Amino acid sequence: MVKGKRVGIVGAGNVGSTIAYSLAMLGTCHEIILRDNKMEIAKGKALDMSQAAAAVRSHTVVSVAEKMSDLTDCDIVVVTAGSPRLPGMSRDDLLMINAKITREVVEGIAKYSPNAIIIMVSNPLDVMTYVALRESGFERSRVIGMAGILDSARMAAFIQEKLGYGGGQIRASVMGGHGDDMVPLPRYSTVAGVPLSDLLTQNEIEEIVQRTRKGGAEIVALLQTGSAYYAPAKSTAIMIEAILKDTKQIHPCAVYLEGEYGYHDVVSGVPVMLGANGVEKIIEITLDDAEKEMFASSCASVQTLIDTLNTNKFFEGE
Ligand code: 2OP
Repeated sequence: MVKGKRVGIVGAGNVGSTIAYSLAMLGTCHEIILRDNKMEIAKGKALDMSQAAAAVRSHTVVSVAEKMSDLTDCDIVVVTAGSPRLPGMSRDDLLMINAKITREVVEGIAKYSPNAIIIMVSNPLDVMTYVALRESGFERSRVIGMAGILDSARMAAFIQEKLGYGGGQIRASVMGGHGDDMVPLPRYSTVAGVPLSDLLTQNEIEEIVQRTRKGGAEIVALLQTGSAYYAPAKSTAIMIEAILKDTKQIHPCAVYLEGEYGYHDVVSGVPVMLGANGVEKIIEITLDDAEKEMFASSCASVQTLIDTLNTNKFFEGE
């Protein structure tokens, strides 16, 4: 049998299964393998999605891995597994519990799909990407966090809402960690090439910046039983498509910094070029003093969480 592109998805909850559905509808890959402790539910979703793929004449088949050792030879493995974020819970509350889950999952990926590119989706996102990098032993180009595409999409949607026009023509830019101190960049955001500052007042722009920072929490508060999944899933699917099709597109993604922007040994969201090898280039854009300061405090927040893991001896004995 000819080997097609295989995408594994660990965690078949709302985000994981919506990623799978999105990929299956587009025929982005040949096989999608779902891995979830709730096996029967995962099997039901896999069957349902394979049938939806057949309905649209997509060649993608969705199946289930009964154990991590069945998740073999994947080109990409997406990790959405983790405790969900509930109302009132910050992303950071999830730290220790999700770090342990990530370690277990990533050890399995490294063993059974050693050449895969890992896309992290679990929160707190930047730290989980850091944990995945450390625990997999993979090079940093193959461990990528999804957040910047989502946060930029939220900012674009808020710009459209505020303007009342511009849909489909908005390029919004968000850097930094996926937390309340993420760094929306109005200076690098445009509508059909027109700078935001020519279309909105400073106050209006500031409202959009603040709403973007709290974009995830706004949806958590409305859903009550969990967090957003359509936009997180679509953002992940965009990354998968760029990698599998080797498009070399630039997207904001969470990556391990080794001197870029002046930071070392921390993960943060920066513009990267995505291709068949994962992160093929990290792009350093020019930040003004205020933007640098915001990026610094975002990196400091991520660093605090890494420090917490170290204080709790999380990485010892690995
Ligand atoms: C979000 O931003 C919960 O991080 C997730 O929707």
